[in-house]
Amino acid sequence: MAAATHKRLVIPGPVEVRKEVLDAQTEWMIGHRSKAFEELFARLQTKLKQAFVTESRVFVQGSSGTGLWEGASRNCIREGKKALHLVGGAFSERWAEISQLNGKQVDVIAVDWGKAHTPEMVAEALQKETYDAVCVVHNETSTGVTNPIKAIGEVVRQYPDTLYLVDTVSGFLGIELLTDEWGIDMALTSSQKAFALPPGLAFAAISDRVLERAAQVTNRGYYFDFIEIEASLKKNNTPSTPPVSLMFAADKQLEDIMSEGLQARWTRHIQMRDMTIAWAEAREMGVFSQEGFRSPTVTTVANGRNINMDDMAKFMGGKGFSMDKGYGKVKGKTFRIAHMGDMSPSTLEEVLSGIDEFLGV
Ligand SMILES: Cc1ncc(COP(=O)(O)O)c(C=O)c1O
Repeated sequence: MAAATHKRLVIPGPVEVRKEVLDAQTEWMIGHRSKAFEELFARLQTKLKQAFVTESRVFVQGSSGTGLWEGASRNCIREGKKALHLVGGAFSERWAEISQLNGKQVDVIAVDWGKAHTPEMVAEALQKETYDAVCVVHNETSTGVTNPIKAIGEVVRQYPDTLYLVDTVSGFLGIELLTDEWGIDMALTSSQKAFALPPGLAFAAISDRVLERAAQVTNRGYYFDFIEIEASLKKNNTPSTPPVSLMFAADKQLEDIMSEGLQARWTRHIQMRDMTIAWAEAREMGVFSQEGFRSPTVTTVANGRNINMDDMAKFMGGKGFSMDKGYGKVKGKTFRIAHMGDMSPSTLEEVLSGIDEFLGV
């Protein structure tokens, strides 16, 4: 597609990918059993460990985040044991379903869409029942809620046999996440959200405890068998053929992310969140997600003005932006403005002014 006809993505994934990062994919292909690949893999490990703020390893998988959901459920919950899923939106709901589809026993703490989970809810559940894992979504992309991962982690850490599994698909590299310090055993993510890479790669920081647990699970399947992935990782490799071109792009993108600095990146996202909330409130539309837990990467605007989403998206398309129209059961009642990845506050300003023009305000 010619650059002139490309619409910049303001949807919550895939997000806009910078041209330099797209270009990194056109490096000459290398064999994945070569020395050059081992070097690429080792470089990625070093940078990914910095990005997840972990001393452990980071799995790099050719799949989207959904694959690692399945891997997490399969490898971390033993036969006959239970998982506790915190559910409050479309994605946390789906992960709980995936655990069940993989034959795992699941209990759920459900909150209304738009609300966050609290550490107290988790403490109460853990007092009553023993769980192999607590599964939580850091940033619920359907509702724009960021859960208190650090505080929930403090509760889970009091139970040495319970793993703390965090989906940070739309949080990672947009919202603060200190994997080791917050006691997270597995933090999983995809490439196409705040990481600002093309879709197709999934990543997970994995603690030793996860691997010890996986060794006790008899049916781990094949593609996401964590024990096999770890054995290859130790040799700077992957069990099957990885998406090498995407890994070149990840190498370049991580370099640029580290130059920006994690803290600066998190702060830029908070700035964009605050701009979007202020804009929505001034337009008397409001924000769907609970105050105090509003996402730095995606704002779910309550469609108080009853905007016709198709008309708005068409208008914004004319301005060169591809917009979201809401998700799941709150589609239309809400719409999402994604402000994640490499988006700058000035681009967001352009987006918000474009919507103003559509609204005629
Ligand atoms: C919070 C969250 N978790 C998981 C997923 C699934 O990830 P993927 O689409 O990379 O499979 C998504 C997708 O949007 C998501 O937003």
